[in-house]
Amino acid sequence: MDQYIKRMNERDQRTEWFLNDRFGMFLHWGLYSIHGKNEWYPSDNKVSTKEYQTYFEEFNPVRFNAKEWAKMAKAAGMKYAVLTTKHHDGFCLFDSEFTDFKVTNTPFKRDIIKEFVEAFRAEGLKVGLYYSLLDWHHEEYPAYGDMYHPSRDDEAFKNKNRDFNKYLTYMHNQVEELMTKYGKIDIMWFDFSYKDHLGDDWKGRELISMIRKYQPHIILNGRLEGSGESYGSIMTDEPQEFAGDFACPEMIIPPQGLTTKSGRQIPWEACFTLNNNWGYSPNDKMYKNSSQLIRKLVECTSKNGNMLLNLSPTAKGDFPEIQVKILQEIAEWMKKSSESIYNCKKADLPKPEWGRYTQNGKKLYAHILDESIGAICLPGLKGKVKKARVLSDGSEVVAISPWVAKEFPDDLFINYGLPEWMSFTFEPTPDRVIELELI
Ligand code: GLC
Repeated sequence: MDQYIKRMNERDQRTEWFLNDRFGMFLHWGLYSIHGKNEWYPSDNKVSTKEYQTYFEEFNPVRFNAKEWAKMAKAAGMKYAVLTTKHHDGFCLFDSEFTDFKVTNTPFKRDIIKEFVEAFRAEGLKVGLYYSLLDWHHEEYPAYGDMYHPSRDDEAFKNKNRDFNKYLTYMHNQVEELMTKYGKIDIMWFDFSYKDHLGDDWKGRELISMIRKYQPHIILNGRLEGSGESYGSIMTDEPQEFAGDFACPEMIIPPQGLTTKSGRQIPWEACFTLNNNWGYSPNDKMYKNSSQLIRKLVECTSKNGNMLLNLSPTAKGDFPEIQVKILQEIAEWMKKSSESIYNCKKADLPKPEWGRYTQNGKKLYAHILDESIGAICLPGLKGKVKKARVLSDGSEVVAISPWVAKEFPDDLFINYGLPEWMSFTFEPTPDRVIELELI
């Protein structure tokens, strides 16, 4: 069999659970939750390692409780979670033997990754680890002249010979620790490749075969080769070995989902911030609301993709109140409507005008995002629906034949059991779902 087809078939098998689960929690946490200015602050402001050290010396998130986090994720209907083990600043939330720049050397002392994986597994959630390929702390990571390093313009770094291979050894060693010390890991989430370093440069082939040796079932994102900007060869019918198992669009839902030229589905997961920052940013109050986020989750599902929604724990270790509130509101909707998300995919129908469809076999879910005046029209579905119910309360939705719709004989018209001349005046909901049982 063609090696590429084999690779794509294997990736489809590995990602089956992932695509059924649809909804995960992203967690960006580290020293940057203290300065609260975004995890890119050291790069944007050329902050020296020395200056950054003060945050390391005080890191002590005394209110951290992984069990509470896991319970909140589960209640919101999230099925998996991905936590930053090391971000671009190089600070490690795990007890690595290859660095001193780690959580167990801060006043907090506890191995956060260990507590995270145990608590989330205990709630039945799958666990994923984010690992930054970039490292602004490691003394062998290219600094002067790099695109992003805080010391990129610092003449003092000009003649320092940095040995990238040494950094690669460090990086591979750390990934090996993550693969061997924390039990079964479901997702490995690398971030990210860029002009200076792509795929082979990270020794991507060796890295992947090492990862799969320890965790054969694990799924990998595509950023060993790609980034938020371009997803790499996973977009083609000839994915490279390090192309990963799923593409990860960032802050965008692909307009038509993702398929290769030959029409093959590409597994994908879109990640989103709740406000405009990944790390805790107390001054950023521009939050998306829960209705919008629910609709975006529906949109991802309707295009065969997942949503990874980011939480930003504070320097004290808990979630900001507003983020808790958003999670609770999502939980309310998921409690009654998650059947229209889990195990669902793109329907075999064009996108309807009033919202979106998701589908699970004979169950077609009509997400009514824009309530109708008069009957709701389901184009082309006349004679194809056995039964229709409002998903949240099981109440009957009836097929009607309004006298004003005689000109549209192939379309099915439904309403919520009202006289056919009546229009709907509802309290707004994020998304009213009608479950349609197809013949
Ligand atoms: C970007 C940023 C990073 C963030 C990631 C999430 O690549 O570099 O800060 O962790 O997106 O997708």
